[in-house]
Amino acid sequence: MNILAFESSCDDTSVAVVKDGKEVLSLETVSQTDIHTLYGGVVPEIASRAHLEVISELTEKALKPVGLRNTDAVAVTYAPGLIGSLLVGVSFAKSLAYAHKLPLIPVHHIKGHVAGTYLTYPELKPPFIALIASGGHTHIVKAHTYTKYQILGRTRDDAVGESFDKIARVLGLGYPGGPMIESAAKTGDSNSIHFPRVRFEDNPYDFSFSGIKTAVINYIHQKHQLSLDIPVSDIAASFTDAVCDVLVNNTVKACKDHNSKKLVLAGGVSANKTLRKKLEEECNKEKINFFAPDFRYCGDNAAMIGAQAYYEYLQNNTASADLNAYAVMPI
Ligand code: KG4
Ligand code: ZN
Repeated sequence: MNILAFESSCDDTSVAVVKDGKEVLSLETVSQTDIHTLYGGVVPEIASRAHLEVISELTEKALKPVGLRNTDAVAVTYAPGLIGSLLVGVSFAKSLAYAHKLPLIPVHHIKGHVAGTYLTYPELKPPFIALIASGGHTHIVKAHTYTKYQILGRTRDDAVGESFDKIARVLGLGYPGGPMIESAAKTGDSNSIHFPRVRFEDNPYDFSFSGIKTAVINYIHQKHQLSLDIPVSDIAASFTDAVCDVLVNNTVKACKDHNSKKLVLAGGVSANKTLRKKLEEECNKEKINFFAPDFRYCGDNAAMIGAQAYYEYLQNNTASADLNAYAVMPI
């Protein structure tokens, strides 16, 4: 089954064709990073207009190796995300499905991130525990099946990717923050500054990242007041270390408590090599199999949406032409 998939929930316009949920036949993505860099973050109105400008051309390119005639269904990210951005993908996908009498499959963006891992490990099957770490979400979930998830823990304030972006901004490293912090951290000493690691008694799988953000900002202010240099690399490395500690600790605990021998890391932050390495090392110690998507499927892309759509279709989770987009939607 060839699924033509669309992803436009934030600042990447992406179109792909995925066969049977596992094989990527084409993937075309246009990133808007250069545009939003000028403003230090994503400007929603500009993002939706930029999606509109490229989506037709990207669709033509993505369809080239397959052809619309050999396409069996259309899938689209319908939630969560920036509403204007989502609406571009949803309207385009709906029109195409309607005009060509193809089934329309709505996909939850976060489930799409997890499905990106099936593209890298076709043998991977639920049940498993997943840590989803992106710009808008930080969740530990138990995937009972490909489509049925149970939330075990979540952030109570900032998402982890959001905290990378905010710290990068105060350090003057630019946007998007995650890759900038990762590259600054390479030459830093992760033991040089101790930033707080927040843990909750009432739910050991929950997270909080707003405290560490304040701690970093206070640290920088103190250095400024004393007219001292800001040790950017040390801050980046120590911040990454603190954040990874909590992510690894809570997620591995969830695996142990739920007797899961499989752990999936997904979402934009899964591109962070320190996080991947630390999680993998801890999983090895606990004899847990660790899975993370290939780097090309870590950030937002339509291939992961096409992968998840296959399993949604098998469960008859299709939509009619009145499908809407939603900025917020539970997993
Ligand atoms: O999943 P994603 O592409 O978009 C959302 O669904 O939010 O995640 C984007 C987030 C951003 O906050 C970005 O800074 C972060 O992922 N990110 C990283 C890295 N690459 C992207 N964070 C840490 N290290 C990275 N290498
Ligand atoms: Zn995402």
